[in-house]
Amino acid sequence: MLVSAKDMLQKAKAGKYAVGQFNINNLEWTKAVLLTAQELNSPVILGVSEGAGKYMTGYKTIVGMVNGMIEELNITVPVALHLDHGSFEGCMKCIEAGFSSIMFDGSHYPIAENIEKTRELVKIVGEKGMSLEAEVGSIGGEEDGVVGKGECADPNECKLIADLGVTMLAAGIGNIHGKYPENWEGLSFETLDAIQQLTGDMPLVLHGGTGIPADMIQKAISLGVAKINVNTECQLAFADATRKYIEAGKDLEGKGFDPRKLLAPGYEAIKATVKEKMELFGSVGKAE
Ligand code: 13P
Repeated sequence: MLVSAKDMLQKAKAGKYAVGQFNINNLEWTKAVLLTAQELNSPVILGVSEGAGKYMTGYKTIVGMVNGMIEELNITVPVALHLDHGSFEGCMKCIEAGFSSIMFDGSHYPIAENIEKTRELVKIVGEKGMSLEAEVGSIGGEEDGVVGKGECADPNECKLIADLGVTMLAAGIGNIHGKYPENWEGLSFETLDAIQQLTGDMPLVLHGGTGIPADMIQKAISLGVAKINVNTECQLAFADATRKYIEAGKDLEGKGFDPRKLLAPGYEAIKATVKEKMELFGSVGKAE
């Protein structure tokens, strides 16, 4: 059964580790993330962007697939199905479709409008027992057409949004979606520290988990980050393993063209990436 992310993130914040959000794209992705979480006895969050939702034919298909897999694969670790960077309309659709968690990304609105819309969702989500992630200060880079400048959030605005009663808060601290450029200045721990001082127990979310060095991840966790999003790194690992398979001519040998064979190296590469991240985030063995 899908669960809200509230409990797992409050435990993570108190226990000084982070739960990974791994974005999914299809059946192979979902299966790889769920089975790795089960093998490592780790809680997990499956992230779905609006673009990926469309690609998989709609939110109801995803809810059906994920619920089916949890049952058929005997997944017993806590799993949250979460809308990533949702619009207000996207949030409403996912609530209806049976997601257990949503992110409302109001970071591109003026703060008053972000507050107003987030407040409305806090109410709806609370009645359903779901979790809600809000965002202040847009995350840099481009993800599924959502482009952000990579600004640092204003800690006082973070406090205003946190006080609305959201479950977790994403704040820009110089992080970027996708690969980091050579001249990236790193995360702003000063900003993160100021945000955590003002928001107290609120689990903080670090987007753009791909390519952030291990020491920065650990420091971010020590300063209150309890959820870390990873998307591009699984895509790169999948593409690399698939390319090697094709370049080695394996699809031309015997029944190597069978999708169950052709997609297997990519699937294993996603599993290895998820395992590496769960170990780094400290969520291994934390499922209850
Ligand atoms: P990356 O693609 O950089 O890992 O970012 C993922 C993310 O933040 C999803 O919201």
